[in-house]
Formats: sequence, structure tokens, C-alpha cells
Amino acid sequence: MKLVVTGAKGLLGHQVVRVCAARGDEVIETDVSPGACELDITDMDAVECFLRAERPDWLVNCAGYTDVDGCEEHEERAVSLNAQAPGNLARACKLCGTRLVHISTDYVFDGEKTEPYSEDDIPRPLSVYGRTKLAGEEAVQGTMDDYIIVRTQWLFGPYGKNFVSTILKIASERDTIRVVNDQRGSPTYSKDLARAVRLLMEHDARGIFHVCNRGRATWYDLAKKAVELMEMGTQVLPVGTQEFPRPAPRPKNSILTTRKFTEITGKVLPPWQISLQNYIKEYLLEYRKSGQA
Ligand SMILES: NC(=O)c1ccc[n+]([C@@H]2O[C@H](COP(=O)([O-])OP(=O)(O)OC[C@H]3O[C@@H](n4cnc5c(N)ncnc54)[C@H](OP(=O)(O)O)[C@@H]3O)[C@@H](O)[C@H]2O)c1
Repeated sequence: MKLVVTGAKGLLGHQVVRVCAARGDEVIETDVSPGACELDITDMDAVECFLRAERPDWLVNCAGYTDVDGCEEHEERAVSLNAQAPGNLARACKLCGTRLVHISTDYVFDGEKTEPYSEDDIPRPLSVYGRTKLAGEEAVQGTMDDYIIVRTQWLFGPYGKNFVSTILKIASERDTIRVVNDQRGSPTYSKDLARAVRLLMEHDARGIFHVCNRGRATWYDLAKKAVELMEMGTQVLPVGTQEFPRPAPRPKNSILTTRKFTEITGKVLPPWQISLQNYIKEYLLEYRKSGQA
């Protein structure tokens, strides 16, 4: 398979490139960040021109404006990147006969449901990030039939800032940290998600799919486990969301059911605790022991 990855230098993009290249795919990395072919997903002409020249089988869109609080302040950028650009990509893909994988989020839901959210549940986003991501999904769906939309959540992994790396940095500087314990989700390893995206492509999937690691957690559970696995002495204390007011409201419970993904691929992602351990073993612990991080 030949594929173009947009946002290839981000947390997920990096892993999609690695996983697909390891499977023997021809992968073209694009981003606005250095180290990849320059391609701005908000520039429809540039995207179309790129696809006409490269003729890939797939475009995997890992680019976006992912700073949830930043989106509240910079709504225009959020609309451009998260809502309009996916429509551009879908139009260009349709014109060039390229199939599209677009990544979306659990934040399209309001978190009021007590059971896990399925792909058939009606989205009701609470934040600018969630609203613009939902508009991006709708732009893709309204433009082409041959798409895969993957909704995921709580990503951690190497190559980029994420909750786990941020918590570990803070924990290395303090004796005690306080972490929110009343928002629930499924922490998801970017490497596992990249493998899942490749599986969906292989299985000729179409439509929306929820994909995340197995098991549930609060941000407190995730922080506590990460600190423990890093063998740090820092005390982690649970607190309520109201103790950390943020510009963007977050859903209380955004657990996703991945049944549809399993039905089509026959696979289930590992429990998040195992994947967190793998991430820490593979990328963080050795550096810490050798004094490099
Ligand atoms: N991270 C999570 O916890 C999470 C949860 C649910 C869903 N998602 C979704 O998963 C996808 C990937 O997220 P991520 O965390 O991997 O994102 P990320 O680390 O922020 O990476 C996004 C990449 O896109 C690039 N980019 C920004 N503007 C661009 C443009 N105009 N054209 C092309 N590339 C551009 C960024 O470059 P700069 O760094 O230079 O801006 C960055 O390299 C996103 O759609 C996100 O909404 C993420």
C-alpha cells in the first residue's frame, strides 16, 4: 500500500509512519513541522496537487489542533484545522481516488452517559475542540463514502507532549502531586492505535470506529500507575475537577465501546496498564536510569 500521512511528526502520526513502514507500506510523511514533506492540510490546492502527484492508496490524517484549552481561545484556528481541513482532505481524496482515514475524539460526547459510548450514540460536544472535531467528521461524511473515521481518547506515547510525559516531569520536581479523579476514559497507547488503524485499512473497513486500549481509568489512576512504574517516590493525591478549573469543559465519562472494531478486525487492544508499562519500559525507564531524562 502507498500512503500519505498528514501530521506525521505528531504523537500519533509518528507511530502510524513507523507501524505502516514496518509492514512494508510505502509511506510519505507530511507535516507543517520540520522533518517531513511540507504539506498544510488547510491548503486545499496544495493537498490536491500533492495527491495528484503521489497517487497514494490512502491518506491518513493525523494532523489537527489538539490543544483542548487552546481551542477555546483560538477558535478560528480550531475551525480551520479541525473542521474545515478534513473537508478539504476528503474533497481532494475523492478527486484523486484516494481513501481517507481521519482521526477524531471521544470529546464529541458530553460524558453524561453512564455506559460506554458506541458509534451510534448521538454526539453532543461540550467544548470548541469537541465541536470542531465533530464538524470535521461531518465534513468528511458529507463529501465521500470511502472513509474511516477513528474516534480515540487519552493518547500517550513517545514523540510529543502528552499527559503521561507531563505528569512524570512534574512528579520529578515535587514530593506530592494532585490529579483529577472524577473524569473517566481509556488511556490509549499511540503505538497500539497506529496498529489498529493499519488493521482497519487492511480489513477494508468503512465508517466510524471507536478505538482505545482496554480498561477504564481516571487521570488520577493513570498518573499513579505511571509514577509507580517509573519507580518514583512522589505521592499522587486524588482531587475533583472543580479544584483545577480549565478553559474547556471535559466529559465526565467518555469510555468508548470498541465492539465494532473487534467485529471487523477480530482484535482487542491490550489493557492500558500493560501498554503503559511497555511505553515506559521501551522509552522512559532506560533514559531515567542512565541519567539522560
Ligand atoms: N492526543 C490525544 O490525547 C488525542 C485524543 C483523542 C483524539 N486525538 C486526535 O488524534 C489526532 C492526532 O493527535 P496527536 O495527539 O497525535 O496530535 P499532535 O501530536 O498535536 O500532532 C499533530 C501534528 O499536526 C501538525 N499540524 C498542525 N497544523 C497543521 C497543518 N495545518 N497541516 C499539517 N499538519 C499540521 C502538528 O504540527 P505542530 O506541532 O507544528 O503544530 C503536529 O505535528 C488528532 O486528530 C486529535 O484530534 C488525540
